[in-house]
Amino acid sequence: MDLASLLDRLTALRQQALPAVEKADDPDELDAVEAAYLGRNGELRKLLANIGQLSGEDRPKVDAAANPIREELEAAIAARRARLDSIALDVRLAREKVDVTLPGRALPRGALHPIAETSREIARIFGQFGFVTYDAPEVETDELNFQLLNIPADHPARDLWDSLYVAGTDRRWVLRTHTSPGQMRVMQAHKPPIRSLTPGRCYRYEAVDASHGFEFFQVEGLMVDEGTTMAHLRGLLDEFAHAMFGAGTRTRFRPGYYPFTEPSVAFDISCTICGGVGCPACKRTGWLTILGAGMVHPVVLRNGGIDPETYQGFALGMGIDRITMLRHGIPDIRAFLEDDMRFLERFA
Ligand code: PHE
Repeated sequence: MDLASLLDRLTALRQQALPAVEKADDPDELDAVEAAYLGRNGELRKLLANIGQLSGEDRPKVDAAANPIREELEAAIAARRARLDSIALDVRLAREKVDVTLPGRALPRGALHPIAETSREIARIFGQFGFVTYDAPEVETDELNFQLLNIPADHPARDLWDSLYVAGTDRRWVLRTHTSPGQMRVMQAHKPPIRSLTPGRCYRYEAVDASHGFEFFQVEGLMVDEGTTMAHLRGLLDEFAHAMFGAGTRTRFRPGYYPFTEPSVAFDISCTICGGVGCPACKRTGWLTILGAGMVHPVVLRNGGIDPETYQGFALGMGIDRITMLRHGIPDIRAFLEDDMRFLERFA
């Protein structure tokens, strides 16, 4: 091959390669074009291999013509590569674009279980009078659930509670039948003055119906101090009833019996449904009993390590389920533990 035709072919190569570079529309294709023209076995190399057939003075002329062509092609390829990258980025940005004008996905909103919510409200109201909340176990010894509360083994007072014992423990362990063992634990752990609440689950061997569960919630209140009297209990419960059920709520004490309090009372509020006139909800009496209470029995104080000659106290036990049913007009206690979302969502 002579100089003239070599230079012609170089020019032809340039003319072919430039449009091929521009036409490449993905990085792989561009790599292929680059290899085909500038690669180790590419067109340019193949052409320049013919340089050996030329005379010594012609060879630099070929180099002088080939170098700018190589540089021009390299520059064109680099520019095309940058262009392809930016197109790819544009495509990605378009594909991954977040439409901030779309309405958000609604997050389902949780809520406290009505029992937990009521329990907190009770704690809030008593908290204003200095009562502090403690936890106590749901599985108790017979001693704490009964004996230390002045209910000896085989005493008929046990018939007030239908107990569930833990199998294989010789009736030593019982699922607590009330939160009163909580007051005993507080007395054993703290010196007076004491103002405590112990809320939680209780268990009884009950036939389940709309107002009885074998699993239910109570909160125990206990106050022990010098000179504590029934009047303090009465005043506190009035304040509680007004805060929980409204300022117009009327209250009364009725005589009651519990082995661990003396004297003992039932505490009634005027019916929240009929206002005291009498309706099916209050069995036409106009009153609803919401808790049992009384002055802590001296024997119980002593069992709690407290000297009844110096200190007096009152205790109260309130059914949280009952309070919750009254607050929200819930007719059936079973609703609380059935986990029916239609019921629970009403409180969200
Ligand atoms: N523990 C009693 C019950 O469950 C309630 C109560 C508590 C009564 C404290 C008096 C004092 O029935």
